[in-house]
Amino acid sequence: MHTKGNSCCCSFEDYKLTTEWLLNQTSHRPKIAVICGSGLGLLADGATNKQTFRYQDIPNFPVSTGAWSGHEGCLVFGTIEDTSCVFMQGHFHLYEGYSLCQVTFPVRIFKLMGVESLLVTNASGGICPDFKVGDIMIIKDHINLPGFAGQHPLCGPNDERFGIRFPCMSDAYSKDLRRLALDVGSELGCSDFMREGVFCMVSGPNFETIAEARMLLILGCDSVGMSTVPEVTVAKHCGLRVLGLSLITNMVSLDYSREEKVNHEEVLQTSKMRAEVLQKLVTALICRYQQQSINTH
Ligand SMILES: *[C@@H]1O[C@H](CO)[C@@H](O)[C@H](O)[C@H]1NC(C)=O
Ligand SMILES: *[C@@H]1O[C@H](CO)[C@@H](O)[C@H](O)[C@H]1NC(C)=O
Repeated sequence: MHTKGNSCCCSFEDYKLTTEWLLNQTSHRPKIAVICGSGLGLLADGATNKQTFRYQDIPNFPVSTGAWSGHEGCLVFGTIEDTSCVFMQGHFHLYEGYSLCQVTFPVRIFKLMGVESLLVTNASGGICPDFKVGDIMIIKDHINLPGFAGQHPLCGPNDERFGIRFPCMSDAYSKDLRRLALDVGSELGCSDFMREGVFCMVSGPNFETIAEARMLLILGCDSVGMSTVPEVTVAKHCGLRVLGLSLITNMVSLDYSREEKVNHEEVLQTSKMRAEVLQKLVTALICRYQQQSINTH
């Protein structure tokens, strides 16, 4: 696999080879793929019958820049209540220097493996003044700011085997899955800190200036982060259902007189605090997902 500029130069054969390699190595046939955001790698802990592959051992898979610690940089297959799942522990960011083709590579592998739904979790900064640190935001819609500037994962020749040239994005986040998340959240007693909102992607790596944050608020963004949108865009393109959960790890400063500054420590601390709740939520969601598909088929 090679990349040129920001357009995708992975061929269909590259994706196929990686898929075949994985299917040869595991008997899991996942229906749900989960991308675990920062500090949320533990989401896979609830799974049984686990099988783990390091990214570096998977052919064509992008490899970590080494910034990850602990269990990140692994693809974990596992079962949650009869539902076979695959978890990405650690994902790739534009700001690390990966091309968008590399960032979204795993999503197309999931599609070719037979995955139906993609669940993305991530940390983001709260813009909506009603939000609080520790809130879990169900992503209702997004603004692809890098995409506006041509940093778009679907730029370049379109492969019809994945999807059409001009895909619809107005329903990128599945209404059914969003409703399911709200229901499950309320059953688990999370309603007080669950929200729905619009996520905006910026490339990073710096956090927003105050003027930028104010601009995002005016544009209708509820939270802002440095990932997720390319993966969701590629997932929607190839027909996966998507659910996005974003943990509000800090509030973005909209005020010049505010003294606190955002730091990565704060982000990690909050992730840790809510990681357990999110894991319960994701596990319950996956259980209910299975029941729901049985009911509707
Ligand atoms: C998968 O297994 C088949 C049968 O053993 C083999 O022919 C094929 O080369 C394998 N593919 C990969 C990509 O490992
Ligand atoms: C999303 O998660 C990644 C790590 O998985 C993290 O590095 C990034 O900062 C998060 N997004 C935000 C806060 O924009």
